[in-house]
Amino acid sequence: MPATIVVGTQWGDEGKGKFTDLLAKEMSMVVRYQGGHNAGHTLVVDGEKFKLQLVPSGVLYDHITPVIGNGVVVDPFVLLTEMDMLRQRGINVEKMVVSGNAHLILPYHQQLDALHERHLGKAKLGTTKRGIGPAYADKAMRLGIRVQDLLDEEIFREKLQTSLGHANKVLTKVFNRLPIDPDQLADKVMSECLEGLAPYIGDSVNIIHEALEGGQHVLFEGAQATFLDLDHGTYPFVTSSNPTAGGACAGAGVGPRHIDRIVGVAKAYVTRVGAGPFPTELFDDYGDKMVDIGREFGTNTGRRRRPGWVDAVMLRHAVRLNSLTEMAITKLDVMDTFDTVKICVAYEIDGKRVETLPYHQSEVHRAKPIYEEFPGWKTDLTAATEPGHLPEAAASYLRRLEAQIGVPITLVSTGPGRSQFLHWDS
Ligand code: IMP
Repeated sequence: MPATIVVGTQWGDEGKGKFTDLLAKEMSMVVRYQGGHNAGHTLVVDGEKFKLQLVPSGVLYDHITPVIGNGVVVDPFVLLTEMDMLRQRGINVEKMVVSGNAHLILPYHQQLDALHERHLGKAKLGTTKRGIGPAYADKAMRLGIRVQDLLDEEIFREKLQTSLGHANKVLTKVFNRLPIDPDQLADKVMSECLEGLAPYIGDSVNIIHEALEGGQHVLFEGAQATFLDLDHGTYPFVTSSNPTAGGACAGAGVGPRHIDRIVGVAKAYVTRVGAGPFPTELFDDYGDKMVDIGREFGTNTGRRRRPGWVDAVMLRHAVRLNSLTEMAITKLDVMDTFDTVKICVAYEIDGKRVETLPYHQSEVHRAKPIYEEFPGWKTDLTAATEPGHLPEAAASYLRRLEAQIGVPITLVSTGPGRSQFLHWDS
């Protein structure tokens, strides 16, 4: 019963979509297990760029069944728009399954997300304002509306009355905004979403288990990343779900026994969008080059990402949190012109050398990176498709990174295209 998880090991935007797409070749099913349209997975196929937010990355292959698992929060309007965009570009979305147990994001969740951020002022989290936090909060408060509720109009209207009844109190009494009319919203959702979504709503748990029991390969596609995890990330600067590998079990309905391969994805440097601690953050020319050459602007929101050197302390922690079996490195080519490249191997905190990520976040804020520095390779890597194509400086950088993180690096991406990667074997 081979199942693989692909998980981001930094703060997102590691290029998970590319490796999910690559691994999907050998899979039958790709399952999203958490998050929502806060994700932005970019895939480049034959020079054509696809930006996916909700539909699992495997959709670009005809043989894949893309599944949106129960742990995802689904904006039905966004999902329908994305499916239409894919259809118009000749992609077959007809096999897609959306879990009936996934929760809905409705427009009031987005409004509340934006209002909460405004309310926080300088302490704002920098969310994507997609309504992710408020939708998961409703789920936890047992006020959420599930995708399956769309199939029974009476129940949908009843649940919307209750959920929106609560949201309207917050909108009007806390934020001094106008209430949203539940009947009008129900009419809009029913008329604009029901017909388009109904054929895809299904029993994702059963479908995933039938695939596993039939010996098919299933890939669980993480969105966001380890250090945006609600439990293990740099709280409160996190998302409201569990992107870590364990989240795949809850968010798709499989036990850990099924998972036999867990691939972490890390950029050869690091970026972060939104607020929160970032020990290796750069404010110099190298950081600007990472952003410019790596085109580090949010797929989703267009925001400039904060750049920094790769942080092996965090990656070692990500190996533990996710039980990674291996690591895939992306965007090595972005550093092709750099005179020097650095790996953060430890922190200095209050005069002491620390090699594991401190549990106390104040210490993470005070952590000063201790770097190992290497000469740059000054070679265009974008055509490298096997380890032998890498200059020694790039190979030794990878070997040192591998030694630092403690699991094998197996894949290295050297450009955005589907074929720009190599199987690494140190
Ligand atoms: P939310 O998920 O929209 O609530 O945002 C919470 C935090 O997660 C913010 O710092 C966002 O910038 C960050 N975030 C959410 N989704 C992504 C993503 O796909 N890539 C990178 N950062 C993300």
